[in-house]
Amino acid sequence: MNNEGFEEVKRKIKRYGQEHLLDYYDRLPDGEKKEKFEKQLENIDFEMIDSLYKKTTLEPKNENANVEPIEYWDKERLGGKYDFYEEIGIDAIKDGKLAAVTMAGGQGTRLGHNGPKGTFDIGLDSHKSLFELLCDSLKEAGKKYGVTIPWFIMTSEENNEDTVEFFKKNKYFGYEKNVYFFKQGQLPMIDTEGKILIGENGLIKEAADGHGGVYESLVKSGMVDKMKNLGVEWVFIGGVDNCLVRMVDPVLMGLAIYKGVLEAGKSVVKAYPHEKVGAFCKKNGKPNVIEYSEITPEMAEARDEAGELLYGESHILCNLFNISAIERMGSTPLPYHCAFKKATYIDKDGNKIVPDSPNAYKFEAFLFDAFGDLDDMVILRVKREEEFAPVKNATGVDSPETARNLYNNLHKQNK
Ligand code: UD1
Repeated sequence: MNNEGFEEVKRKIKRYGQEHLLDYYDRLPDGEKKEKFEKQLENIDFEMIDSLYKKTTLEPKNENANVEPIEYWDKERLGGKYDFYEEIGIDAIKDGKLAAVTMAGGQGTRLGHNGPKGTFDIGLDSHKSLFELLCDSLKEAGKKYGVTIPWFIMTSEENNEDTVEFFKKNKYFGYEKNVYFFKQGQLPMIDTEGKILIGENGLIKEAADGHGGVYESLVKSGMVDKMKNLGVEWVFIGGVDNCLVRMVDPVLMGLAIYKGVLEAGKSVVKAYPHEKVGAFCKKNGKPNVIEYSEITPEMAEARDEAGELLYGESHILCNLFNISAIERMGSTPLPYHCAFKKATYIDKDGNKIVPDSPNAYKFEAFLFDAFGDLDDMVILRVKREEEFAPVKNATGVDSPETARNLYNNLHKQNK
């Protein structure tokens, strides 16, 4: 950055009360780290950070949104239409119109795993990592339909290097030419006074900006162009932490194509009303997801005449988009949600502080906040035991043990 540019950045820093950053910056010896710090300063949108901080100090407001249940299709009850939709989907898949995206920006911290979540071994006899299990399913589908499905993997600044290294070490599970990596964005973390924190490495402490950044990152990193060059029209976007994720589903695709919608999502019935999953719904008439943290107990427990939960269609992070929808969503900013977390930092005297309770705000965008950009969306209810085995916690619910059992049961049946 030239002098003039840096002076402008400094003015901004002062305007938004972040002068402490300049003290840390000045203390760094000239060299690579200082340049990195400068780049960080240049890229931060101080005005946005300031407004995000102000929001954290407000009482959480009830959005006043009109939330209603959403219509869904049950894969088990499509009757004679099942084959019809499946055929449409199969044709599109065979024509090479599908790509898969895995959002793998997260670390395995909650699982006690030191590394990218996708590298985690859930303890199957094969000791395959989550990445390898996902790759297996793509290979299998590719074989079935006589195509190769390109696989786009979203990493974060924090885990990109380790992820790429892991793939190299494992020879890309034999899928090398079809794997593309791209990075998601990040945002600085701030303390309870709104001050941007400095991390252990002496640089500004930044954290992944949530999976809602996936659309923008796909566009900005050139992946959407790459997809178009490959002839892709439909993009499945899923998480890395569901070892049964079915990324290639001709029925879902056929249904979306036939109904003329640009997005489609899969759901499973909630295991119990207060299960910690988001539920598909309509907010102000548009498709959306209501998170488990936002739903009132009355809504979570409400049932229809047939006894089914009104908000029982769990969002399992398995969604399919037309490429034009991704381009559109990639250019529309999403709101950021705020989480209060424990963050190790360096104080003004250079001491490393490891907090034992939350001390910092992290900002994340959620991918489903973009669903409402489009008027309509198809929801397909699928079977939990066939498609949803999340690995979230070290023990208990949604743990390696539960995922392993679900995986083994399904694969035993398919033998
Ligand atoms: C999420 C969904 C919830 C859904 C549940 C299903 C949110 C806010 N909620 O909850 O509606 O029912 O999954 O399992 O997402 N990721 C990134 N980058 C990020 C953040 C996340 O790539 O910045 C990836 C993770 O690697 C993971 C997936 O997104 O693959 C899910 O993220 P996570 O934060 O674990 O979501 P949950 O709170 O479990």
